[in-house]
Formats: sequence, C-alpha cells, structure tokens
Amino acid sequence: MASIDLSQLSPLAATPSDWLETVLADFDGFLMDHASAEKKASGMAMSMISHYPDQPSIVRAMVELAVEELNHYREVMRLILERQLTPTADLKDPYIHALNGQVRKAAEHFLLDRLSVAAVVERRGAERFAIIADSLQNEPSLQRFYQAIAASEQRHWELFINLAVEHFDESTVVERFNELSQCEAKIIKTLPLRAALH
Ligand SMILES: [Fe+2]
Ligand SMILES: [Fe+2]
Repeated sequence: MASIDLSQLSPLAATPSDWLETVLADFDGFLMDHASAEKKASGMAMSMISHYPDQPSIVRAMVELAVEELNHYREVMRLILERQLTPTADLKDPYIHALNGQVRKAAEHFLLDRLSVAAVVERRGAERFAIIADSLQNEPSLQRFYQAIAASEQRHWELFINLAVEHFDESTVVERFNELSQCEAKIIKTLPLRAALH
C-alpha cells in the first residue's frame, strides 16, 4: 500500500481536559457509547465495501477493518456484561453526523472525503482512548485494554490516509485532511461534553 509522511498532516486540536472528567464521572455510560462506536465503525467499513465492490485495495483493507472493529465491539460488550449493565440502544452521534455533513457527494470527491473523514475520526479515537488509558493507573487490566485500543485506532487513521494516497495525489489528501481537521476542531467546540467518545 502507498504511504505518506504523516508529519505533513496537521495535528488535531487537543481534547479539552474536562472531557476526561466527564467520562470518568460516568464510565459505565462511556462504555455503552464506546461499544456503539465500535459497532458503527465495523458497519462503516462494510458500507465502504458495498460502495466500492470493484476496488480491491478498499475491499481488502475494509474487510480486515470490519472484523477488527467488530472484535473491539465484542471486547467492550464483554466489559459491559461483566459489569452487569443492561446494554442500551445506539444513540445518534452528533459529532459523526456533523463530520459526515462535510462529505461532498460528487463522485470525484466522495471517496476522498469518506477516507479523510474516517481518518480524522480514527485519529480522534486514538487520542481519546490514550487519554483514558493514561488515567487508569489503578486498573491495570482496563488500562492495557485501552492502550491496545488506542494503538489500534492509531493504525486505522494511518490506514485511511494511505488508502487515500493510493487513489489521490498526496497534496490533495494532505489539503483535504487538514481542512477537515480544522472543521473537526470547530465541531468539537459546538458540542456539549458527554460521557462518550465524542
Ligand atoms: Fe475500534
Ligand atoms: Fe478504528
């Protein structure tokens, strides 16, 4: 697969420090949202395959990703059930909804935007799961779990960027990712803090 010097991509805005406090104040609620996010990530990978069934690089990457995200879902659901929580229905994620609103529908832009939005979302996930892992000093097994999830989401954002570079000029990918990163920072500022990934 193509690869790119990731230092050309601007870092995401740092998550506000009170996000972690909000999550830790209702960690059970956070787990429900986390499970839902993993399930949706798996579904998103499958929808990419349905949209681009004739693109081997996308099918190859997305089938692996769908399975990996579904495994994450299974692992989070195990935590939920071990805690004897009652799983809840998925809620709409306003952050994802707002970012998906940035996807241009014209065929020449659609794939670039889908891959770039996915890269931003995965990168944000990597940042926030690492913040959670760092806070779990007193719960070593949960900490290891979140460290592993953070490392996995780190690989995923790089995967989406590298897929984008296979299909578009490097400068086009860098420009669109950086635009969406700025847009994502504005979206975060408008949304209330919740015990949720976003
Ligand atoms: Fe995941
Ligand atoms: Fe992911």
